[in-house]
Amino acid sequence: MPQKLLLESDQIMASHALQSATATAPIDFESIKSLTESEAKAVDQLIIDELSSDVILINQMAHYIVGNGGKRLRPMLLLLAAKALGTVSDKHLILAAVIEFIHTATLLHDDVVDESDLRRGKESANAVWGNAASVLVGDYLYSSAFEMMVRTGNMRVMEILSKTTTAIAEGEVLQLLNCNNPETTEAKYLEVIARKTAILFSAATRLGAVIADAPPEVEENLALYGQHLGVAFQLIDDALDYKANQEDLGKNLGDDLAEGKPTLPLIYAIEHGTAEESAIVVEAIKNGDRDAFNAVYDIVKKTQAITYTEQRADEESQKAIVALAILPDSAYKDALIQLAKFSVQRDY
Ligand code: IPE
Ligand code: IPE
Ligand code: MG
Ligand code: MG
Repeated sequence: MPQKLLLESDQIMASHALQSATATAPIDFESIKSLTESEAKAVDQLIIDELSSDVILINQMAHYIVGNGGKRLRPMLLLLAAKALGTVSDKHLILAAVIEFIHTATLLHDDVVDESDLRRGKESANAVWGNAASVLVGDYLYSSAFEMMVRTGNMRVMEILSKTTTAIAEGEVLQLLNCNNPETTEAKYLEVIARKTAILFSAATRLGAVIADAPPEVEENLALYGQHLGVAFQLIDDALDYKANQEDLGKNLGDDLAEGKPTLPLIYAIEHGTAEESAIVVEAIKNGDRDAFNAVYDIVKKTQAITYTEQRADEESQKAIVALAILPDSAYKDALIQLAKFSVQRDY
C-alpha cells in the first residue's frame, strides 16, 4: 500500500513537471537517437542482411524503401526500453529489426490502399513499381519478420507479435469501413488508430521488457507507454496531413481527405463548424474530394480542430509518461519521456 501511494504521488509530480515542459522545450531528436546509435547500427545491418533475396524485384524494392530512411522510431523505442532495464541482448536487436520490417510492410500496403505516391520524400514503391508488386513485397517483409522472430525461440514473443499483426490488419479494415462515412465518431476513430498504429509501438516497448525478463508490472507499464505514445503519434500524423510542410513531412498533404478518411480534425470540424461549414466537410468526406482541400483546411483551422487534435495527443503523451514512473531513473528513461513529447511536437 505505501508503495502504491508513493507511485501515485510520483506520477502526479511527473505529470505536473510535464505540463510545464511540453509547451516550451523543443525536443532534440538527434541527441535522443545518439543514445542507441551503436545498437541501431547493428539493427540496420541486420535489416540489410535479411533483405537479400535471389528474387531481384524483392531486393530492389525492399532496399529502395528501407534505404529511403524513415525515423526508425519503433526500433529506437524497443532499444531504449531494453537499456532503461539495464540490458540489450542479441534478441533485442533481432526484434528491433522485426518491428521495423513489420512497420515497413504496413507502409507498402498502406500506400496502395491510400493511393499515396510520395513516401519518405521519394516516389512511393507503388508509384514506381505498381500496386501488385507493393502488396507482394509487403507480404514478403511480413513473412521475413516472422521467420526472424522464430529465431528468438520464445513463445511469448511469437504470441505478442502475431496478435499485433492481427490487430493492425483489423485496424486497417475498420478504417476502410469508416472511409467516406462522415458519421464516424471520435470513439470509432480512436478504435482504429489504437489498432492500426499504437499496437505496434506497444509491442516494441513490451518486447524490450519481455526479453529483459522484467517483472509483469514493468512489462505492462512499458506496453501502456507504447500504446499511449502510439495514439499520440497517429493523432499528430492526422493533424500533419492537413498542416505540415510537405517537404519536411516527405508525404503528400491531403491524402487523408482524398481517401475520404474521417480523421479527428474532420470529425471535430463537423461538430464545431456552422451548418454550412459542416456540410462542406461532410461532402468532402463522402466524395473523397482532394479539390476541397483548401476549403476544408480553412474550416479545420477556424474551428480549431487541429488544436483540439494536438491537445488530445498531448493528453495521450502525458499518460505515456506517467506509465514510465515504474522505471528507475536513467538517461534512457529520460529519452523515453522525450520521445513521448516528440510524438506530439514533431513536424515530420
Ligand atoms: C508512418 O510512420 C505511419 C504512421 C503510423 C503514421 P512513421 O512516421 O514512423 O514513418 P517513418 O518510418 O518515419 O517513415
Ligand atoms: C498509418 O496510417 C499507417 C499504418 C499504421 C499502416 P496513415 O495512412 O495515416 O499513414 P501515412 O500518413 O500514410 O504514413
Ligand atoms: Mg497512408
Ligand atoms: Mg497519415
